[in-house]
Amino acid sequence: MPDAATLQPTDDHSPFHVACIMDGNGRWAQMRGRPRLVGHHIGARRVRDIVKACPDAGVTHLTIFAFSTENWKRTQVEVAGLMRLFRRYITHEAKALLEAGVRVRFIGDRIRLDDRLVRLMDDLEMLTAVNSKLNLTIAINYGGRDEVTRAAQRLAVEIERGRLTHKDVDAECLARFLDTRFLPDPDLVIRTSGEARISNFLLWQSAYAEYEFIDTLWPDFHADEFCKIVKGYSTRARRFGGVTA
Ligand code: IPE
Ligand code: IPE
Ligand code: MG
Repeated sequence: MPDAATLQPTDDHSPFHVACIMDGNGRWAQMRGRPRLVGHHIGARRVRDIVKACPDAGVTHLTIFAFSTENWKRTQVEVAGLMRLFRRYITHEAKALLEAGVRVRFIGDRIRLDDRLVRLMDDLEMLTAVNSKLNLTIAINYGGRDEVTRAAQRLAVEIERGRLTHKDVDAECLARFLDTRFLPDPDLVIRTSGEARISNFLLWQSAYAEYEFIDTLWPDFHADEFCKIVKGYSTRARRFGGVTA
């Protein structure tokens, strides 16, 4: 396991937010002649390993893309299997997450999710609210455009009710209406499976994120590769539109 001190990009107390687009589960299974859902199940195991590795790697925030607003287009069998897997993951992992000091929160629109899943999500958020070792955010029925649209709707309601005026609306104000209002922007976004696109993930928040697109399929993405990428990030010069000396 790499030494945490060598991985911190700035100082020991600064947040370090890594976001993962967990892609390639289906192809991993299909390459082995197995149903796509097998890939999703193995993929969930990788989440467990990576969550465990985060604190020692200096990662304070981990956000994972589990299901997009576009993923409803998949077959009913795959969608239902994924929803079952999310329920199972929450039920089986709750105790371990609590004991490991992980605070779990969910982003995305819950309106389309089944009540049983939403209840488990709410309970896990409440159960782990006391934790602070790692902030794990799971994106389910999440889409960047959908999130900004919902934020704009809520903002419009505040204006209609006279609690805000158009002059109050700046980037900071809008960000307070996003699902991610409790999160720092991601420092590093990793996408597995060789696709070099962001597929509607954290559009607003990733304005200055570093990106890593890697060929590994998510079920083959182990903690050691994750830690190596995190370590490599600390050598990148981020300018945020300015210049470095
Ligand atoms: C990512 O893996 C997981 C979800 C989108 C739910 P995919 O299911 O997209 O796997 P590929 O891209 O088809 O291999
Ligand atoms: C992005 O992967 C969504 C998740 C990882 C949950 P997709 O597999 O759905 O994205 P596209 O279709 O390749 O853009
Ligand atoms: Mg995919």
